[in-house]
Amino acid sequence: MKTNEIYQGDFFELINQVDDDSIDLIICDGPYGVTEKKWDKINNIQEFNISVIKILSKKLKTGGALYLFGKPDCIDFIDYRPYLILNSKIVWYQPSRLAQGRINYTNNYDIIAYFTKGKAKTFNLDDIRVPQLVELEHRKRCENVPSVVNGKFGKTKFNEKGKNPGDVWGDIKQLTYKSKELISRKYLHTIQKPKKLIERIVKASSNERELVLDPFAGTGTTLVVCQELKRNYIGFEINPALVSICKNRLYLGDVYYKIKMA
Ligand SMILES: C[S@@+](CC[C@H](N)C(=O)[O-])C[C@H]1O[C@@H](n2cnc3c(N)ncnc32)[C@H](O)[C@@H]1O
Repeated sequence: MKTNEIYQGDFFELINQVDDDSIDLIICDGPYGVTEKKWDKINNIQEFNISVIKILSKKLKTGGALYLFGKPDCIDFIDYRPYLILNSKIVWYQPSRLAQGRINYTNNYDIIAYFTKGKAKTFNLDDIRVPQLVELEHRKRCENVPSVVNGKFGKTKFNEKGKNPGDVWGDIKQLTYKSKELISRKYLHTIQKPKKLIERIVKASSNERELVLDPFAGTGTTLVVCQELKRNYIGFEINPALVSICKNRLYLGDVYYKIKMA
């Protein structure tokens, strides 16, 4: 299959054209099974996700990574272990703005399940470090405390470039109606992901010129990020209107396209 293309059609058919063991990174932001939208209506999201995991695991290179997006229960009660290793269940934390639950705690996060096929072949920690200003100030204050000078904390390596972002990501906000990045209000809640979120994943789990697959491309955020970060990509999207948005973002350039839309 030709790379650096977005293909219109059904993932379950198009994926047969992808060679086995050929993909370095897969970003799978497909149906969540929570809205009434046609593409999101899934009877059993866990069964759907295990079938997707099974298919995609074949396409990954050994050591390649799959990031699967969903609601907190998206991989509950399914056995993915014959196919992939689950390294982290990243919590993409969003303090709620309006949705206040009355009979339960409001759900304030999505899951990004980070799987690899065997041991991860790539994890570029230095490319995704986040500031650790609090720790730096704290450390300076504590420099002369005996437990730091003599004890095990004295050996803690402080990295000037920042710290590991950890598995709770609250520093990247969902897009809102006001976000400059938003392609169309029509696709706000269920669709478009912030580029920063996808950038973190692409930087961590792939290298330049490697191949990234987005089987549910939506507005094409992953593909645009790959283009900008010099990764090769393949995208699938079932909705022709979204495919043309992807193409415009890719071929006109993301910035130019937004100006044109405004
Ligand atoms: C959550 S959205 C992806 C959003 C994307 N990450 C972005 O930033 O724009 C999921 C997309 O999957 C597409 N989709 C759903 N079922 C599909 C299928 N069977 N094959 C291909 N695309 C599908 C939907 O049309 C929708 O655009």
